[in-house]
Amino acid sequence: MIEKYLYINTIGCQMNVYDSERIAQVLKTLQYKLTSSVEKADLIIVNTCAIREKAEQKVFSFLGRLSGMKKGKPGLIIGVGGCVAQQDGEKVLARMPFVDIVFGTHAIARLPEMIKKVESGKSRVVNVDMAPEIYEFQPVEETKNSGSTSRFVTIMQGCDNYCTYCVVPYVRGREMSRLPADIIKEITGLAKSGVREITLLGQNVNSYGKKEGLCSFPEMLESINEINSIQRIRFTTSHPKDLSLDLIKSFKNLDKLCKHFHLPVQSGSDRILKKMNRKYTSKHYFEKISTLRDYCPEIAISSDFIVGFPGETESDFMETLEMIKTVGFDSLFAFKYSDRPNAPASRLLNKISDAEKKKRLKILLEFQKTITLEKNKSLIGSTQEVLVEGLSKKESTAGGNGIKKRIPLQWTGRTSTNKIVNFTGYENCGSHKEKITGKLIRVRIDRALSNSLQGKSMSERPKSSDNKGEESYAA
Ligand code: SAH
Ligand code: SF4
Ligand code: F3S
Repeated sequence: MIEKYLYINTIGCQMNVYDSERIAQVLKTLQYKLTSSVEKADLIIVNTCAIREKAEQKVFSFLGRLSGMKKGKPGLIIGVGGCVAQQDGEKVLARMPFVDIVFGTHAIARLPEMIKKVESGKSRVVNVDMAPEIYEFQPVEETKNSGSTSRFVTIMQGCDNYCTYCVVPYVRGREMSRLPADIIKEITGLAKSGVREITLLGQNVNSYGKKEGLCSFPEMLESINEINSIQRIRFTTSHPKDLSLDLIKSFKNLDKLCKHFHLPVQSGSDRILKKMNRKYTSKHYFEKISTLRDYCPEIAISSDFIVGFPGETESDFMETLEMIKTVGFDSLFAFKYSDRPNAPASRLLNKISDAEKKKRLKILLEFQKTITLEKNKSLIGSTQEVLVEGLSKKESTAGGNGIKKRIPLQWTGRTSTNKIVNFTGYENCGSHKEKITGKLIRVRIDRALSNSLQGKSMSERPKSSDNKGEESYAA
């Protein structure tokens, strides 16, 4: 049989990363093998993102490159999937004659039949159907050891919140939860293949199962906590308005649930939150954070912010900075507001200039940098439990002028609180990578940078399966 190669370029959020894994999996049925070389590929899929203009530009610039490639390789099949495909549908084909397939966010299971059509020379195809009855979402089967310690599992699709700036409800459709049995089957399979950490994905995991009358999200977490050899559970994202006391209590009760909460707030100004249709005030947000810290004092909190939403005044922005100071986030993501043609905020007046948005973004990020560094510094001298992801990217030898200098081998992983730790102390394990990858190692922190911590390993975690109270040790 002739070997056929598939190259996937994934742009966008973790959901797209997960969807790309599903794409690779369904295309195995057509004998496509994944390659990391775009030149070698017989089929190229671009999994796209429409969240901000910049993400869309990235998509179109990559597609521009492919147009040139196809001229030299006419048999090459090019498919565009994901959120831009869902948003623009037929228009993508009209604008780009070199594209063969456009498939939306609900069409992954139908991709093989679309590709077969193109392979047999029949036509160019589009499928951006979002009708719930054709929504197919079977567990991702894991057949062999993938070598990864950590994997994403999407537990729900779509969003019903309609924040006024956001394109997601229009490109991912209505909120829909997967069946608990399918999710558990998938995670059990991943655990068998060597995966140790699972991140559950959904635009608003706190409303998991509500519409369909399935189990609640905290109940789902409880079931996953029971799966042997899964050592850590994470999730993202949760909407502040729906954050329940039950979920907060899970951080105290479930030993595998990581002590990190990503709770996007978007703005510190109630006036702007209202215009964004977020349905909470800064006071509500503070209350939720305070309850979280009551139940789990060591919890790390991160968030998303948008600067320069239409009509955001200097004083609204000051309220955002005030919020950042009051909460004391461990880290955050911040974005310049970007008009999305489908989203209602694009029709609001009083748009903020790009120069002003740039200025506010810079101020905000600088402001947070100091807070993050302070938080990281406070960990110097403590011992943290780190799930090892592999060797850190740093070279083990370096040196100019032909003289090689030995740099101690460094490993990398994350704390339960989601901080990156690079550490030494397992110098002889370089040729036995599998020996510590995927293991929980105790690391003594001796240096803090703004994006990571550095330390030296103490030991592997004792074999006992219960790690309650072992999260971090004060020096
Ligand atoms: N469902 C998640 C977020 C998904 S999008 C939630 O509600 O938290 C990720 C982040 O992108 C958002 O939190 C927001 O900060 C940012 N974002 C979304 N639309 C945007 C836009 N039009 N311009 C700038 N940032 C945007
Ligand atoms: Fe977008 Fe709001 Fe839904 Fe998040 S909750 S995906 S920001 S509409
Ligand atoms: Fe982008 Fe779609 Fe995710 S718009 S952020 S890839 S849900």
